[in-house]
Amino acid sequence: GRRRACGEGSSELATRRRALMQVGIKLPIEVLWTGHDAVPAGKTTLDMRPPDRLLSRGIRHVTMDQLKRQAAARALEHVRDGMKLGLGTGSTAKHFVELLGEKVAGGMRVVGVPTSEATRADAERCKIPLTTLDQVDRLDLTVDGADEVDPALNLIKGGGGALLREKIVAAASDRMIVIADETKWVDVLGRFPLPVEVIPFGLAATQRAMAAAFAQCGVSGQMGVRKGRDGHVFVTDGGHWIVDAHLGRIPDAPRLAGLLNAIPGVVESGLFIGFATMVILAGANGIRVVERR
Ligand code: 5RP
Repeated sequence: GRRRACGEGSSELATRRRALMQVGIKLPIEVLWTGHDAVPAGKTTLDMRPPDRLLSRGIRHVTMDQLKRQAAARALEHVRDGMKLGLGTGSTAKHFVELLGEKVAGGMRVVGVPTSEATRADAERCKIPLTTLDQVDRLDLTVDGADEVDPALNLIKGGGGALLREKIVAAASDRMIVIADETKWVDVLGRFPLPVEVIPFGLAATQRAMAAAFAQCGVSGQMGVRKGRDGHVFVTDGGHWIVDAHLGRIPDAPRLAGLLNAIPGVVESGLFIGFATMVILAGANGIRVVERR
């Protein structure tokens, strides 16, 4: 059964849930459950001690990493025996892989397609049987993290540099569950620099074409080729580079995604439009599940 989050079941929350579900009727998404309705903007907020008012209502202090694990645990409840799974990349997806590994050790039969070499290594360590998209037709479910999620469940991904394989795997999946701490929820995408995977050849021409696409969408900002910790250009699993575009706000993300994909030197953008079917956001006061209808 579903784990109860802090405060779940109180009449106050039940009232909020009903109110949000009513709002959901007017939106293309449905809020299934919420522990609270305020999403803090600052990434560090959740690592701070919550006010005593909250503590007195029995709400624990949790770290960002615990929140990520809670979101991963909730996603695991959607995994059934025999499923073919896409395994996401990043610190949140890593929790999911570890928890899935525990299920596999307990006898659950699943097979996974990793979205990066890093996730492949994690999954192998957790003894999760792996396959490829050449060996299976469709995947039942992909569980992955995100850098930003908007109310239409569009995403920015690629902070970990795995956006291309992540998009290929998500596109081959019947469902995609995004797991994240609640700081990833934004009204409008773009505060997180948009990762765009590019071919190194003709980089300047590609960046000029990207700038033109940004201008057509009424946005602009600095672009930079991503560097690794060692100071060298970051090279993706596919052998490409990543340009991070600091746009601040992307009012029409579907349009920008289409324009970027039409540029020959662009392999893929980190805009995931229409992929996520469910988002699980863990916050200090509970877990919020948002589902596309
Ligand atoms: C990797 C990704 C990740 O899912 C995204 O960066 C979120 O990572 P984290 O869970 O570590 O915050 O898109 O390419």
